[in-house]
Amino acid sequence: MKVAVFSTKPHDRKSLTEAASEHEFVFFENRLRPETASLADGCRAVCVFVNDELDAATLRQLAAGGVELVTLRCAGFNNVDLAAAAEHGIRVMRVPEYSPHAVAEYCLALLLAANRHIHKAYSRVREGNFELKGLLGFDLHGKTVGVVGTGRIGRIFCRLLRGFGCRILAYDPYPHQEAIELGARYVPLGQLLSESHVITLHCPLTPETHHLIDDAALARCRDGVLLVNTSRGGLVDTEAVIRHLKSRKIGGLALDVYEEESGIFFENLSDEVIDDDVLMRLMTFPNVLVTSHQAFFTAEALANITRVTLGNLDAFSRGDAGNATEVGSR
Ligand code: NAI
Repeated sequence: MKVAVFSTKPHDRKSLTEAASEHEFVFFENRLRPETASLADGCRAVCVFVNDELDAATLRQLAAGGVELVTLRCAGFNNVDLAAAAEHGIRVMRVPEYSPHAVAEYCLALLLAANRHIHKAYSRVREGNFELKGLLGFDLHGKTVGVVGTGRIGRIFCRLLRGFGCRILAYDPYPHQEAIELGARYVPLGQLLSESHVITLHCPLTPETHHLIDDAALARCRDGVLLVNTSRGGLVDTEAVIRHLKSRKIGGLALDVYEEESGIFFENLSDEVIDDDVLMRLMTFPNVLVTSHQAFFTAEALANITRVTLGNLDAFSRGDAGNATEVGSR
């Protein structure tokens, strides 16, 4: 089967070409958007990633070009218009779980780096500055950490936190017994916001969770709260966050995702003028740490993404229905 692979990076090309597979891959570095969808003409499937835009216009163009399957190399599918996919008879598959450990461990790394300013210390000592000024952090031990979303990643994060001796508050419309056994206490979101020293987001981006962290939510938080987002950028109203950084309400911010990351994250723009004033303002704060959507990026996760993606393509070409990795478009 001929498959157009969008948003290709060297690691995608390497893992898909090295895997034993009967499929013919055509690699594009471009993101999939309405303007680039015709590149997939003549392919039965497209293979996409987090920042490809599978809106109604893209899906219409894909269907016209003969595409019958979208397979995502990620878990989240907030970038796919499922109703439009169903309308065009395009099936949508994903990699529901490739390494929740990769993301939970990275989230902890970001939290620790932001709290203890490890990123600043690293560059400081390399320039011969051994001062401690500005590097003061706080003990995680005994602090209250609010975990929003206790799915696969959120629960592993709770397990990691247990080792630090934190008090864990959780919010999830669907509480999970394992999180309770790991010491988390489910509370309403408002209580989590007002009692937590650290808040970390692990819920999907949906219309209900869009801008979950907005001005009103931030106003409820403790002064000096440390906010971590390794889930999806759209969960956080970035302009509201900037207002609360300026007012000193937010003590620290660590982001691996950003609501307008598409077209910026994963790219080398070091020689370019970056037009996004919100992102650039965000990165001027001394207490903000931004990374470029890399929480998933471990060898184990990449191997699992390749294995499940090839399984999706095989299942589709065999005509299997009701695959567990299928997103409910049919
Ligand atoms: P999951 O589906 O196992 O868990 C999500 C949890 O969020 C569920 O327990 C669900 O009930 C809960 N939830 C739904 N609506 C909620 C709300 N309004 N408030 C609080 N909780 C809510 O998903 P998983 O595997 O744990 O992944 C979580 C998110 O992490 C994904 O949706 C994805 O956006 C993000 N992610 C980010 C990566 C990165 O590289 N930065 C990599 C992989 C996932």
